[in-house]
Amino acid sequence: MMAGNGLLYPVLGFASCVAFIYMSFGNLRFHFEEPKMGFVERNGTQFFLDGRAFYVNGWNSYWLMDQAVEEFSRPRVRAMLQAGAKMGLTVCRTWAFNDGAYHALQISPGRFDERVFKALDRVIAEAQRHGIKLLLGLVNNLQAFGGKTQYVKWAWEEGIGLSSSNDSFFFDPSIRNYFKTYLKTVLTRKNTITGVEYRNDPTIFAWELINEPRCISDASGDTLQDWIEEMAGFVKSIDRNHLLTLGLEGFYGPKSPEKLSVNPGEWASVLGSDFIRNSKTSTIDFTSVHIYPDHWFLDQELDEKLKYVSKWVISHIDDGNTVLKKPVMFTEFGFSNTNKNFEPSQRDAFYKTIYDIIYESARKNGSGAGALVWQFLVGGMEEYNDDFGIVPWERSATFKLITEQSCQLAAIRNGLVKSKGNSEELC
Ligand SMILES: *[C@@H]1O[C@H](CO)[C@@H](O)[C@H](O)[C@H]1NC(C)=O
Ligand SMILES: *[C@@H]1O[C@H](CO)[C@@H](O)[C@H](O)[C@H]1NC(C)=O
Ligand SMILES: *[C@@H]1O[C@H](CO)[C@@H](O)[C@H](O)[C@H]1NC(C)=O
Repeated sequence: MMAGNGLLYPVLGFASCVAFIYMSFGNLRFHFEEPKMGFVERNGTQFFLDGRAFYVNGWNSYWLMDQAVEEFSRPRVRAMLQAGAKMGLTVCRTWAFNDGAYHALQISPGRFDERVFKALDRVIAEAQRHGIKLLLGLVNNLQAFGGKTQYVKWAWEEGIGLSSSNDSFFFDPSIRNYFKTYLKTVLTRKNTITGVEYRNDPTIFAWELINEPRCISDASGDTLQDWIEEMAGFVKSIDRNHLLTLGLEGFYGPKSPEKLSVNPGEWASVLGSDFIRNSKTSTIDFTSVHIYPDHWFLDQELDEKLKYVSKWVISHIDDGNTVLKKPVMFTEFGFSNTNKNFEPSQRDAFYKTIYDIIYESARKNGSGAGALVWQFLVGGMEEYNDDFGIVPWERSATFKLITEQSCQLAAIRNGLVKSKGNSEELC
């Protein structure tokens, strides 16, 4: 039946994909049609939602809370979530922190701006309305929106900081307490729109402890590992419903000598993080990896970069399958538009390289659990862009590529892939 119907609906694009699945399986709940709102769980290397394996096609829009604060910019949040849902995307990664910067959620240690918290309430309520789940980041290793630098500054200003080093964020007991106060406040926040505490809200896909943690002052990795164990345990002591990930870039560290050659360079092994060791932490439910070949290799041609990207992605999925036995999420991947001779088709090729490997893994019940583009914006947001952001509906080839990936992953979830080789006909 599958093959027959598939042949009637060859690569006709998104509308026909939905129509096809809807017509053939009208009595099945299908995620383009109806939001799923159970908690995402993990069993071994896979995510499960409502009893079936769940593979993520999603994106990053870090700015949702910020843009929900003021009325004039608020429609962007709805527009983005609505567009994501239309593309069959299921998870959006965004910041649930802003420490001391403009529109700060946390104004100073333990002091929160209710106006901004309400903006985050809105983002969550709006995501729920569109059937999108949120991967919420809890602090930044980088300086944007405050980050660990702001925490260190606060401790210094209050005269209790042990050190002015940014890495004291990880080892200073006073700063650890600041961060725990923040964690507790966010996890137990009661949404003023839905009335649901964040820790009980299945709209939240998972928490992410820290964006791109590095602790270069201790290349052994012990300082960061100790912080991870303490903070992940603390999150779990408050919230047992949600999955937790770290936010790692994915570099291998000194405790993984056999993997060091996969790193983009020697520099990547001395940042104080270690993909294997950190991800093994029992309270970390799934791993995170970022993909930025343009930052990592300045002079490579596209095909060399893509070859490396394949190697990087496959290596981490192998780790998930064999060593970690946990799902592997590529929580950021971006292609720079400042590359020499940049063409949008190169970005499509980059996306496709990643998508195809994830699809192949998912089809075999492997650990490749999903990927999130860095980053999507709506029109008129130039000042929020970097050299990676796109408005995904501005280029139809890109839109189609992304939507087809959603469609194919949904098909696996819905049991529509019969055997190797005939899946191309699905969308
Ligand atoms: C996890 O998967 C295994 C193997 O498929 C199965 O036996 C087990 O019951 C599952 N556990 C849960 C909690 O669903
Ligand atoms: C902390 O990080 C910020 C941002 O990267 C940097 O400007 C500052 O110099 C750092 N502080 C120290 C003491 O290294
Ligand atoms: C993947 O898992 C599903 C459900 O547990 C099972 O029916 C299917 O045969 C598995 N596929 C492969 C390729 O192992």
